[in-house]
Amino acid sequence: MPLNRFMDLALAHPDHGYYRTRDPLGSKGDFTTAPEISQMFGELLGLWSVDMWQKLGSPKTFNLVEFGPGRGTLMADALRAAKLLPAFGDAANIVFLETSPTLRAEQKKYVPGASWIDTVNALPTGPCLILANEFFDALPIRQFQKTDKGWQERYVALQSAVDDDIPTFEYSLADTLTSASTLATSVRDAPEASIAEICPLAETIMEQMRAHFDANSGAALIIDYGYAHSTPGDSFQALKDHKFVDPLAEPGEADLTAHVDFEALAKPFSKAAFYGPIEQGSFLEALGIRARATALAANANEQQRHEITSALKRLTERDAMGSLFKVMAVTSPGIPVPAGFPASASF
Ligand SMILES: C[S@@+](CC[C@H](N)C(=O)[O-])C[C@H]1O[C@@H](n2cnc3c(N)ncnc32)[C@H](O)[C@@H]1O
Repeated sequence: MPLNRFMDLALAHPDHGYYRTRDPLGSKGDFTTAPEISQMFGELLGLWSVDMWQKLGSPKTFNLVEFGPGRGTLMADALRAAKLLPAFGDAANIVFLETSPTLRAEQKKYVPGASWIDTVNALPTGPCLILANEFFDALPIRQFQKTDKGWQERYVALQSAVDDDIPTFEYSLADTLTSASTLATSVRDAPEASIAEICPLAETIMEQMRAHFDANSGAALIIDYGYAHSTPGDSFQALKDHKFVDPLAEPGEADLTAHVDFEALAKPFSKAAFYGPIEQGSFLEALGIRARATALAANANEQQRHEITSALKRLTERDAMGSLFKVMAVTSPGIPVPAGFPASASF
């Protein structure tokens, strides 16, 4: 099967899929995300949303949407910070795009009053603000390998020798060639043995988002690890117990992800309607994370002060999450520049 089918089954199979069967976040899970590291992350995104809501003309009702909200921590922190302007909370209808029943139950505890959708096409009408942190990296990718014949799609196959009736998997290549036009122009001429990746579902979601913004008005903030520009490379990876493991070894038991190609995400939007991608560190600094850390530390004990300082470093420093994680905003046409971004797009 193509890699995207394998990834989709491993992550989202109704009975055995990784996200369907557990809460994978935090120290007892397999990975930790920015909102789980510190309340500062969600709080700053809450203030960013208040500012963006005002830039959309302070609509009396709007949809405050989060894609892949995990435990709901980001939204809970965002709504608490946004209480600074009560009209924002009064106008917001909270909508979560989430497929995992286990995580929906967690989200319900932290954000009572939210409603859920399964697809972007189900977004309610009206202006909307969308937040997506570490959502796009979880979407299934296709991979292609450059061989002496051209680009061949990478498949996942059952290994022929099977021990103890436990199936094991290996990579294989499709017999047919894939047209280079499937890939970004900057990737097509990569040298032999290179791997290229595309994420068809991410591209579909961005097109649906653009259509929704055209019919309504809106803005989205996308944060994830990945490449600013489409680049060849094998970024398919698996995390289990906070360690990298073989992505084919235990389907359904490890978190499978791939780097996000921000240039591909931006494609449906005109140059005047996307901002960034910029590094997470610069974005959080521009929104005032240092001032927030100082304010929190002023009321903290020594242990808490230590935690605040280490969270600040983890979220912003270049050798931690500050540089690998990128931030991009997209908007409907004619909306002022979102907070934290330079006025023009990076490409
Ligand atoms: C890596 S977690 C990130 C959680 C959260 N945003 C955070 O930062 O803590 C990915 C989230 O996306 C959800 N998800 C994954 N694939 C999805 C899909 N195709 N549709 C909707 N949600 C999905 C997962 O269930 C989970 O909530």
